[in-house]
Amino acid sequence: EKKITIAIDGFSSTGKSTVAKRLAKELGYVYVDTGAMYRAVTLYMMRKIFVSEDNIDEEAIIRHLPFINLHFEFNEDLGYGEMYLNNENVEKEIRYLEVSQQVSKVSAIPQVRKKLVEQQQEMGENKGVVMDGRDIGTVVFPDAELKIFMTASTETRAQRRYDELKDRGDDINFEDVLKNVKDRDYMDSTREDSPLIKADDAIEFDNSNLGLEEQFEKILKIAKDKI
Ligand code: C5P
Repeated sequence: EKKITIAIDGFSSTGKSTVAKRLAKELGYVYVDTGAMYRAVTLYMMRKIFVSEDNIDEEAIIRHLPFINLHFEFNEDLGYGEMYLNNENVEKEIRYLEVSQQVSKVSAIPQVRKKLVEQQQEMGENKGVVMDGRDIGTVVFPDAELKIFMTASTETRAQRRYDELKDRGDDINFEDVLKNVKDRDYMDSTREDSPLIKADDAIEFDNSNLGLEEQFEKILKIAKDKI
């Protein structure tokens, strides 16, 4: 059986990671959440106060990149790899809204992207990987055998993210989450380096109305046809 590379891109909170995780499990592939990597770098820079609400010190960020070491560690119970920043488990912290509010600024810096893209390419060099993000099908693996582009209405996505954060016990309000989803969509798709854009050969899925279950079955079938 041949192994392929599966790229899943799309706007924030489209359910990419849910589909990607299940797909990886079903196929026995490795799942890589590239958003977690950008979030971890952002968390590091926030702790150093190189990025905050109204300030970003790009030079300091670039200077500190060599001191960042990222790796995923598989968690049996969760069934996927948790994000480690310099050997600290940051899986929970990187999902906070505060991090979501800064991540698109940090991930627009070309040097940040270069570092993470190189590591992502290494992680996928033997194929058998499902990677989700914004530029996987366009930049990281332009030759991926299967590319999926996920979309859903802004409100649907904000509601999903809000429910997720509430479930975890975060103290947030819907308006802030909606604003963050809109801000990130805008910044991610208008940045100069590797903007979020559908690859020509990507299959588009709009799941505003479609249940995630139904969608997963469809994608799994397409993947199996390619293997
Ligand atoms: O996927 P997630 O929503 O966790 O990604 C967080 C942010 O990381 C995105 O809004 C985007 O700014 C950045 N990102 C990126 N390229 C990727 C994955 C994520 O720029 N491949």
